[in-house]
Amino acid sequence: MTNSTGYIAAIDQGTTSTRCMIFDHSGNVVSSEQVEHEQIFPKAGWVEHDGVEIWRNTRRVVAAALASEDLQTADIKAVGITNQRETTLVWDRSTGEPIHNAIVWQDTRTAALCEELAGDQGAGRYQERTGLPLSTYFAGPKIRWLLDNVDGARDRAEAGELCFGTMDSWMVWNMTGGPDGGRHLTDVTNASRTMLMDLETLEWDEEICREMQIPTSLLPEICSSSQVYGKVRERGRLADVPIAGILGDQQAATFGQACLEPGEAKNTYGTGNFLLLNTGEEVVHSSHGLLSTVCYKLGDKKPIYALEGSIAVTGSLIQWLRDNLGLINSSSDIEETAKLVDDNGGVYFVPAFSGLFAPRWRPDARGVIVGLTRFVTKGHIARAALEATAFQTREVIEAMQADSGVELSTLKVDGGMVVNEMLMQFQSDILGVPVVRPVVNETTALGAAYAAGLAVGYWEGEQEIRDNWAQDKQWDPVMDADDRDARFAEWNTAVERSFNLA
Ligand code: G3P
Repeated sequence: MTNSTGYIAAIDQGTTSTRCMIFDHSGNVVSSEQVEHEQIFPKAGWVEHDGVEIWRNTRRVVAAALASEDLQTADIKAVGITNQRETTLVWDRSTGEPIHNAIVWQDTRTAALCEELAGDQGAGRYQERTGLPLSTYFAGPKIRWLLDNVDGARDRAEAGELCFGTMDSWMVWNMTGGPDGGRHLTDVTNASRTMLMDLETLEWDEEICREMQIPTSLLPEICSSSQVYGKVRERGRLADVPIAGILGDQQAATFGQACLEPGEAKNTYGTGNFLLLNTGEEVVHSSHGLLSTVCYKLGDKKPIYALEGSIAVTGSLIQWLRDNLGLINSSSDIEETAKLVDDNGGVYFVPAFSGLFAPRWRPDARGVIVGLTRFVTKGHIARAALEATAFQTREVIEAMQADSGVELSTLKVDGGMVVNEMLMQFQSDILGVPVVRPVVNETTALGAAYAAGLAVGYWEGEQEIRDNWAQDKQWDPVMDADDRDARFAEWNTAVERSFNLA
C-alpha cells in the first residue's frame, strides 16, 4: 500500500504492551501491531519491566506494522514516540545493557525514601519547582534507589558510564545507534515527570539533583516534543526515517484529542486513568491534589502546561480480576459479568494497589472491598470494579474544578476501557455531564504521530489536528442528582477504609 503523501509511524511503549501504528494524513489508522510484555512482581508493591524485552518488542511491532500493509521505508515520513511515563531504566552507555530491570511507575519501593526526602518540609518540598509532590510515582527517587541498591552503580554513574532514561530515551538511544553514538535525550513532558526538572526553565534542577544524590551526567538532554532528534540508524524498515516527536503517553493523548486551548481536557482510561486539562502558557499550581506538568512544547514555541489528575489503578484492576482471581476469562468479559446484576449490591471496591494517587496521595492506602454480604455475586464485584473507575474520575474532576474554577461541560474520553458502554454510561451518570468518545480512539499514538508530522511539515499546523478530530459517540446522564450524590458519599466512606493499611 502506498500513497503520494506517505504516512507517519508512531511507537506507543505502554505499561502493558508496545505498539506501532501507522497513520495517514487524515489521522486514520492504516496499520497497527501490538505485543504485550511481562509484568514482573518481585515483591508486594514492586513492579518491574525488562528493558531488553521492550526494545526487542519495539523492533518486532515496527517491522510487523509496516510489513502487514507492505509499506516501504520511503512511505514513512517520520516516526513519533510516546511512552509510559516515569518508568525508570538505567543502562551502560558503552554496552547498552540495563543495570537492572526498569522500575515501573506503579512501584512503591521508594515509599520510605520519599518520606525521608520530605523530612520536615513535607511532601510538597519540590512542588513549586517541579509541579509534583514527593511520591513513589515519579522517576527521581527510583533513580536514587537504583544507585543505592545496584552494586557499583553509584561509582559507575559518577564516572559517567551510565545513562538514565524513561522509555522514550531508551527507544531513541537504541534507534539512533545505541553504544555506537546513540542520542541520549528526552522531551520536556517526560522530563517533567522525573521531579528533577524545573517547570519554568525546562532544565534539570541541580539543587534537587544534589539533594536526591543523582549525578547530572546520568540525565538525558531535554528537548522539545516536536523536532527532528535524529534519524533511525539501525537496519530495517525505518532506516533513515527521522525521529521527530516525543510525548509522554498522557500528554500525547491530550494532543491527539486536540485539547489545544486552555480549558480543554481529556480523560484516558488505560491501566490507570489520567485526566489532563490544558492550562496554556501558565503553570497552574494545584491546591487540591493535582499535578502541574508540561503538556507539550512544539519546537521553539513556548511550552504549554497542564493540570493532571493521575489515578493509578483502573484498567489494571480488570486485569487483576482476570489474572489474579480468574473472575473473568478476558478483559472484555467484565461488561457481560457486570450486566448479570442490576446494581453494585452495596459493594464498593477501592483499588489502592499502589496507594492512592490524585487527588488524595495516600501511600498508606491499600485495596479494599467493602459491603460484602452473602447476597454478593461475582457480578456485583465486576460492577463495583467498573464503578471504581468512574468514582475515582469524579474525585479528580472535582479537584480540577476547584483548582481551575471552570465547570466541566463535557468529558472527552479515550483509551482501552471506553469501549465499555456500561462504564461510559455510569461515568456520565456519576459526573452529571455528557461523555464523548472520538472516532479515532487511538489518541495516544495519534498524538505522537502529530508531533512528529508537524516537525517534518507533513501536517502544517494545529488547525489540521482540530479538523481531523471527530465525535463517535456521546453518553448523557440519566441518573437523578440525589442518587448520584448518595452513591458518591458511599464511595467516599469506602475510600476511608483503605487508609493506614501499609
Ligand atoms: O504515568 C503513567 C502513565 O504514563 C501510564 O500510562 O497508558 O501506559 O498505563 P499507560
